Amino acid sequence: VKSPERPPVIWLHFMECTGCTESLLRSSHPPLARLILELISLEYHETLMSGAGKQAEEALKKALEKYKGKFICVVEGGISTKDGGIYCKIGGRTALEIVKEVASEAAAVIAIGTCAAFGGVQAAHPNPTGAVGVGQVLDRPVINIPGCPPNPYNFLSTVLYILTFKHPPELDELSRPKFAYGRRIHDHCERRPHFDEGRFVEAFGDPAHQKGYCLYKVGCKGPVTYSNCSVVRFCDVGAWPVGVGHPCIGCTEPNFWDRMTPFYEH
Ligand code: SF4
Ligand code: SF4
Ligand code: F3S
Repeated sequence: VKSPERPPVIWLHFMECTGCTESLLRSSHPPLARLILELISLEYHETLMSGAGKQAEEALKKALEKYKGKFICVVEGGISTKDGGIYCKIGGRTALEIVKEVASEAAAVIAIGTCAAFGGVQAAHPNPTGAVGVGQVLDRPVINIPGCPPNPYNFLSTVLYILTFKHPPELDELSRPKFAYGRRIHDHCERRPHFDEGRFVEAFGDPAHQKGYCLYKVGCKGPVTYSNCSVVRFCDVGAWPVGVGHPCIGCTEPNFWDRMTPFYEH
């Protein structure tokens, strides 16, 4: 069933790797084609749009005029603030200028991924470009969907929640929806019984690793990381980092590149 009025979405890319878009491209409930052709009206998205250069800039300008106050602004990537933000420019304008302009006209702003939510990898020490999250440069509320990349269903659920209830879902103190980020990885981990009974992997590839024991001693940050990865999982194969034998590296938390390292312990 087609949405009677497809909500317009303007998606901005700044300092990032496009992994968040790649993650969304792999969602299958609904499949991406249905999402962008039937459910939402994707007005601007540099990875997915066919236009480029001047044509793309015109599309953004027209969408802003046509959907003023009505569109959802999604931001992927951190914002450079050092030296006036000159380290990230698109069409001759800084990310700082663009995000302020677009967000000021939006009905809601969603920061997808840890780059957009908290600055991400480019904000890691020594943060040469002064990268920060979107919420730090705007004087309006921003909904953060962190993760590197985040689970696309946390993003889609947030969009659908806004469209259904006309207001954002309940958020935690880091502006993350509580339905997705209200509990720790550790609270729902399938390896938790091994943690509770003291059965730990001591080294990658050891017999305990082969038996699926707890990854805490090889660096798992699940006890201090808030997200629903262990419940929602990724893609249709039901995989998630800890499930396939890799410690959680805390990718939904602010500054995890600095705070959660070393990722591996031996
Ligand atoms: Fe890439 Fe991670 Fe940033 Fe998403 S949050 S754009 S996956 S570096
Ligand atoms: Fe907790 Fe990580 Fe062990 Fe799972 S693998 S029980 S999240 S420490
Ligand atoms: Fe990230 Fe940990 Fe989930 S590394 S994807 S928060 S299991």
